[in-house]
Amino acid sequence: MLSHLLHLRGIESVVLEARTRAEVEGTIRAGVLEQNTVDLMVETGLGDRVKAEGLEHHGIELRFGGRGHRIAFDELTDGRAVTVYPQHEVLVDLIAKRLSDGGDIRFGVSEVKVHDHATDKPYITYTDADGNRHALACAMVAGCDGSRTETRNLIPEATIRQDYFRQYPFAWLGILAEAPPSSEELIYANHPRGFALISTRTPEVQRQYLQVDPEDSIDNWSDDRIWSELHARVDGEGAQIKDGRIFEKSILQFRSFVCEPMQHGNLFLAGDAAHTVPPTGAKGLNLAVADVYALSNGIAEFFETGDRGRLDAYTETVLPRIWRTQHFSWWMSSMLHRLPDASAFDHRRQVAELDMVTRSVAGRTLIAENYVGTPLD
Ligand code: PHB
Repeated sequence: MLSHLLHLRGIESVVLEARTRAEVEGTIRAGVLEQNTVDLMVETGLGDRVKAEGLEHHGIELRFGGRGHRIAFDELTDGRAVTVYPQHEVLVDLIAKRLSDGGDIRFGVSEVKVHDHATDKPYITYTDADGNRHALACAMVAGCDGSRTETRNLIPEATIRQDYFRQYPFAWLGILAEAPPSSEELIYANHPRGFALISTRTPEVQRQYLQVDPEDSIDNWSDDRIWSELHARVDGEGAQIKDGRIFEKSILQFRSFVCEPMQHGNLFLAGDAAHTVPPTGAKGLNLAVADVYALSNGIAEFFETGDRGRLDAYTETVLPRIWRTQHFSWWMSSMLHRLPDASAFDHRRQVAELDMVTRSVAGRTLIAENYVGTPLD
């Protein structure tokens, strides 16, 4: 996306991608796009498939005490919505667009090392997919290398960089199943047995999650056990899970992380290289898009005018949204999950919080505004 946005401002970039194109386009990840993300895709010529195939959602259901409580985005946010369109499909669209615009994406590279990022002559050495070594000179480097980033470590810890980290005492078991949708909208269920999330991918493929222990193994979860647990946590008034054939299952760990600053010299971090959110708010990809939108503006302004002002202000521009999103993702997680050491009092208090938030227009608005995403600055 950064490469695409820069191209639209007349700036050349090279994308070094560790994986093959087939791996990038085939890896299943989360699937909820904020209104901002869809708008930016449409405005920059990437809207055809997301508009045709994405499933627009105008609300979510928070489920507790065996009943659903709808958060109606339309009326609470002036008609904003989210779109269920899997992240790898966004990548399919971006890669096709970059390549048809003459973009330079080098897949399957390894041994990537950034040199001299604090000078005005950084360069990157890497091995290409055929095993040949290269050096690439550039004006600046964007570290978009995900949560297992190496570029983050180039910002010296303690003297310059501060890391903020939180681990959670739970994880999600995620499945993909061939089944009809169990619900028209996503269901986030709080249940004494633990959290469950009912999501979707297409009319034929459903995505569902169960809260599990972070130490749990996927081998402990037969298909029968998964379905019976989903039924136990979700079925009730107005909801009935529809079973199907499970063809993918995995356990996802939960963490919150932010590093500050997100830049050093001519190195700029974006997305999971700089921050991670737990998946409850469906924010990871959207936050990465907000980062690169701001970063592309800073880079473009520098090349157009020679003024580094916006570029130097990159971290302070994006951090307020990142921390708001950290709070939202933490808050949704803590309201909806069963904590292993929670007392009966804690569970009652949690249900009271959900009751307060869903009963009040102000509470529902707060969730709706954050879920659809506050507009990009
Ligand atoms: C998903 O469909 O993968 C999904 C949906 C909502 C979330 C997280 C993941 O909050």
